[in-house]
Amino acid sequence: MPTPPLIRPALSGVDPYVPGRPIDDVRRETGVERIVKLGSNEGPLPPFPAALRAIAAAAAGQRLYPDPGAWALRDALAARTGVPADRILAGNGVDSLIKLLCLATLDPGDNLAMCWPSFLSWRQGAGIQGAEWRQAPLAADGGYDLDALAERVDARTKLVVVVSPNNPTGQAVGAGALERFLDALPAHVLPVLDEAYFEYLPPGAHDGAALAASGRRLVVLRTFSKAYALAGLRVGYALAPADVIEALGRVRNAFDVNAVAQAAAVASLEDADRELPRRVAEIVAERGRLDAALRGLGHAPLASQANFLLVPYPDAAAAQAANAALLARGIIVRPTGPFGDPSALRITVGLPEENDALLAAIGPARAVD
Ligand SMILES: Cc1ncc(COP(=O)(O)O)c(C=O)c1O
Repeated sequence: MPTPPLIRPALSGVDPYVPGRPIDDVRRETGVERIVKLGSNEGPLPPFPAALRAIAAAAAGQRLYPDPGAWALRDALAARTGVPADRILAGNGVDSLIKLLCLATLDPGDNLAMCWPSFLSWRQGAGIQGAEWRQAPLAADGGYDLDALAERVDARTKLVVVVSPNNPTGQAVGAGALERFLDALPAHVLPVLDEAYFEYLPPGAHDGAALAASGRRLVVLRTFSKAYALAGLRVGYALAPADVIEALGRVRNAFDVNAVAQAAAVASLEDADRELPRRVAEIVAERGRLDAALRGLGHAPLASQANFLLVPYPDAAAAQAANAALLARGIIVRPTGPFGDPSALRITVGLPEENDALLAAIGPARAVD
């Protein structure tokens, strides 16, 4: 009898996550001393002052395992979101929560539906489970096309994912359209709202926490990696129905969120009303300036409601050449092939001087056409 393969055959169809290039890596390769990293949608400023103090204070306690229940963090999130702590799960970044959600729900034969181009971890999560990954096209503006997505749902759909604002395109779905979409989904489907860029949304946009607090059956995912500037510590959270929280509790690692990360996230929430509005306003203003300057150079970035801009190129070769030229000048942006769009570059909005460096290096659109 032939022996079964050691590695699960389902993994042959899974592409590994392609992360944005790290600073040291590009410095070593190019020899450029001053590297500008606009490739991973991180916040351009350091963590909040209270978070920095909490990180330093937590150092001495690191001989102990962290609180596996992350109770202080969940209580702080409950106070901020209005969702009870027993329907909140902290995770090692949203990325980890995506994998846990797939692990808890998807068997071979089941499917996950989402629009595409979009965030690649969802595709990977479905593939790892040997489940079917179903894609619907985006709307013309680059945001999720909820009607097209609804059409992909069938009896074997377990998860239907809405990434809003969408990464890498930057558009959010309308609050009313989202509610109508959720209302129309069959009861066997679990909707997931990936709100990694929630903090950048304007007033009147959707608010997954309010939807979850009102008792709607959906999962909302948010992160401390972007507007809270804690990407290095890896903290995110899920707001979810009780049965989903219970299932995630079965598959997660007990100590997923380290103690320094928990302390930093709690302190960040305490500082949020002071720090977030100012930081978000600065990014939104810089996004407008960057968008206008890129247009002045003949580029056509997509209108964005997040902390990044997607810049289309005529084809994949042109995008690749533009990326290589930027890298050679020490500027890291994100080629979006792994997100499903090989002919574009995604540019994170940075500090004014970082954006200026990008603008000086990117050149007019015709130079790369
Ligand atoms: C749409 C989306 N979801 C989830 C994540 C993962 O965030 P985290 O850093 O919390 O793992 C990202 C990060 O880029 C993202 O863009």
